[in-house]
Amino acid sequence: MAGDWAVELHGVRKRYGRGRTAVHALRGIDLTLRRGSYTAVMGPSGSGKSTFLQCAAGLDRPTAGAVRLGGTEITGMKENKLTALRRTRIGFVFQAFNLLPSLTVEQNVVLPMRLAGHRPDRRGAAEVLARVGLADQARRRPGQLSGGQQQRVAIARALVTRPDVVFADEPTGALDTTTASEILALLRQSVDTQGATVVMVTHDPAAAAWADRVLFLADGEIIDHLDRDGAGPYSRGGTHPARTHVDRIAARMTSLTAARTHTGAARTEAAA
Ligand SMILES: Nc1ncnc2c1ncn2[C@@H]1O[C@H](COP(=O)(O)OP(=O)(O)OP(=O)(O)O)[C@@H](O)[C@H]1O
Ligand SMILES: [Mg+2]
Repeated sequence: MAGDWAVELHGVRKRYGRGRTAVHALRGIDLTLRRGSYTAVMGPSGSGKSTFLQCAAGLDRPTAGAVRLGGTEITGMKENKLTALRRTRIGFVFQAFNLLPSLTVEQNVVLPMRLAGHRPDRRGAAEVLARVGLADQARRRPGQLSGGQQQRVAIARALVTRPDVVFADEPTGALDTTTASEILALLRQSVDTQGATVVMVTHDPAAAAWADRVLFLADGEIIDHLDRDGAGPYSRGGTHPARTHVDRIAARMTSLTAARTHTGAARTEAAA
């Protein structure tokens, strides 16, 4: 049933430019993501990860194909309608937190509601801040918080509208390993206990290992995936992904990058 999918991409292509200099950033992506799933997207630099995320999140328009979010077709949707949908039904978490420094933590969290013209739900904000462990920080400003705390605020802001899906682009890219684990555990928890749906781009196998499924992109195509089932139980008291699973993901990435370098070398030779 269509309503069971948080995200659907059908034959999504994205081309930048035209003619001989055209870049085919996405070459036909077909993908359906269930509600309450946690998906990581990995791939070499330039493989199309950010383009994929932007097309899936309605921030950019595909050249061809269709995107549905929470059962709603967004392909061809008018810009103002799409903006409204993004504010209420999609959450975003970025590497650079993207908080407004002049607003308090609470004001940052309710910002999507205000922008959508709704009354800020202060109780909802308090609940979600408690969930990310910042109940007592609501009146502080982002500049007074650590990086990990700032990213928690960004996650609270992404979750407060109970969106159909949360898109995260390298959410732990600016954090140290320990703080990164806390953020990844928080995203995992929002999936497991709140039924959130998360799609996360990362280059770090240790981060990707928290997801239910890792998708591997190469040259604009999904060429492989790895599931967490069969990865064995979580290690470290059941709180962290098993080392063996992290290693499997890292090995898959290495072979993918090696294969690509090989192809690139072959192409260069053919051209010479
Ligand atoms: N606005 C643009 N105009 C032209 N080409 C673009 C544009 N944005 C991306 N590209 C090209 O599309 C391809 C995919 O880019 P994308 O940013 O999606 O890769 P990525 O996997 O996110 O890479 P990275 O890991 O370096 O962030 C690349 O070849 C890139 O140069
Ligand atoms: Mg990118």
